Amino acid sequence: MAAVNAELDESSYLAQIDLDRLPCHIAVIMDGNGRWAKKRRLPRIAGHRAGIRAVRQAVEACARLGVPYLTLYAFSVENWKRPHAEVELLMKLLREYLKKEIGELNEQNISLGVIGRISELPAPVRRDLERTIEETKGNTGLRLTLALNYGSRAEVVDAVRALVAQARSNGEIEIDESAVSRHLYTAAIPDPDLLIRTSGEMRLSNFLLWQAAYSEIWVTETLWPDFTQKHLFRAVTDFQKRERRYGGLGLE
Ligand code: IPE
Ligand code: IPE
Ligand code: MG
Repeated sequence: MAAVNAELDESSYLAQIDLDRLPCHIAVIMDGNGRWAKKRRLPRIAGHRAGIRAVRQAVEACARLGVPYLTLYAFSVENWKRPHAEVELLMKLLREYLKKEIGELNEQNISLGVIGRISELPAPVRRDLERTIEETKGNTGLRLTLALNYGSRAEVVDAVRALVAQARSNGEIEIDESAVSRHLYTAAIPDPDLLIRTSGEMRLSNFLLWQAAYSEIWVTETLWPDFTQKHLFRAVTDFQKRERRYGGLGLE
């Protein structure tokens, strides 16, 4: 007898999705690579390598659905605290991903963007990022944004600095919510509707603190390297059952 709680397969979740009510922006905290590797007695970096497959799954699922924006948290400002060898390998993997994926991104009409303190990344990483951004900038489908050397508090500090500099040169400046939003790295991106975190942690880890004010949060125990299109479709299905009230009284 089939288990009552048996998970549905990919196409069953996909069939449940109302394509007229898709989240405009999905943001993902990709977490659990280290634990995935540890379970297999492999070095942490094997988990990061396996995580690239999951990146492809998330990107393809969003492209298939027609979600306009996907943002992936790939490296935080706090991740520099990790051993030098791990950081170096993460940067190497990022460069490999950019080189391998450029054809696929163009094929799928995907453009690449970045948020974070990009100027502090190693020069070869910056060069590869710039090249991929340039070569995909004409694409009109999914906007894939990588959060690299990203920290939400650093982003707010940078926004405040920019506002102060503007006030100094203009003499006066109006500061309201929209002015702050316009000075964040995400100025050109709508706030995330759906925020996914893998590996079961219930925290934001300094990701999009301002922008996620009213995001619907979806956490799965699945470790990032095991994340597939099915998980993304399931997150969207659950998202569509939520009632977003924004502090009001909702529909009833
Ligand atoms: C997420 O996986 C990837 C990055 C933060 C770069 P982790 O490396 O944080 O994996 P865990 O949390 O230790 O399992
Ligand atoms: C968040 O994961 C950062 C990224 C996914 C890039 P972490 O593994 O760094 O977060 P904490 O340390 O568990 O909060
Ligand atoms: Mg982690």
